Amino acid sequence: MNQAKQKPWVVGITGSSGVVYGLCLVRALAETGREIALTVTDAARIVMREELGLETPPLEQPDFPNALFSKEVLDRVRYFHYKDLLAPISSGSFPTAGMIVMPCSMSSLSQIANGASQNLLERAADVTLKEKRRLVLVPRETPFSAVHLENMLKLSRLGVDIVPANPGFYARPQKIDDLINFVVGKVLDLVGIETELFQRWKGSPETTESGAEAGKAAPR
Ligand SMILES: Cc1cc2nc3c(=O)[nH]c(=O)nc-3n(C[C@H](O)[C@H](O)[C@H](O)COP(=O)(O)O)c2cc1C
Repeated sequence: MNQAKQKPWVVGITGSSGVVYGLCLVRALAETGREIALTVTDAARIVMREELGLETPPLEQPDFPNALFSKEVLDRVRYFHYKDLLAPISSGSFPTAGMIVMPCSMSSLSQIANGASQNLLERAADVTLKEKRRLVLVPRETPFSAVHLENMLKLSRLGVDIVPANPGFYARPQKIDDLINFVVGKVLDLVGIETELFQRWKGSPETTESGAEAGKAAPR
């Protein structure tokens, strides 16, 4: 199948911890040949500097993503400034496969849950919701307050996929990349994009056909 002819995925990166998840997601989508419409908030740029030591051009500059991705990835990315409400992804008439906000701050999550679109990222999520397209949010906060949980429940009931950035450990991760790939892989899996980024649970080596381990829940 010619992936380039598929509708683009909108990816939003917000200023919660774990911006590296969003960068890894963009790279993984690009590797499958998909197009990505990318928007990044001001807070996300700050977190990129704090967590990853990344010095990027100002968000206003069209070459902002150049510091984040290889040429091959950039060929698949259309970058939009997060305040540019004139960008195509702010309209439902622009066809997309859906949107993934990764990581999703509690602030952006709240705006999306309440239909309060103050920037392009929130507007694009609002459009995704109203057009009944796939919307995946990857929240990162701990602990969650009741406000966070209520917002997530509200969104979940509207059909939004809430995929917290909490990697499983059953594949015995050895390095940070393994943890990142697990979360990104779960998201791709969820939206039906083939991935080998994470190892699937195939049963414990101790499990016997006779069901000696019966009753033990399988990890998710
Ligand atoms: C280093 C750093 C880490 C942060 N981590 C989180 C986090 O894990 N979750 C969260 O909801 N907010 C976090 N914040 C706060 C958000 O950046 C802040 O609420 C911001 O207004 C979010 O804006 P945005 O949703 O437009 O990106 C963090 C801020 C900084 C500077």
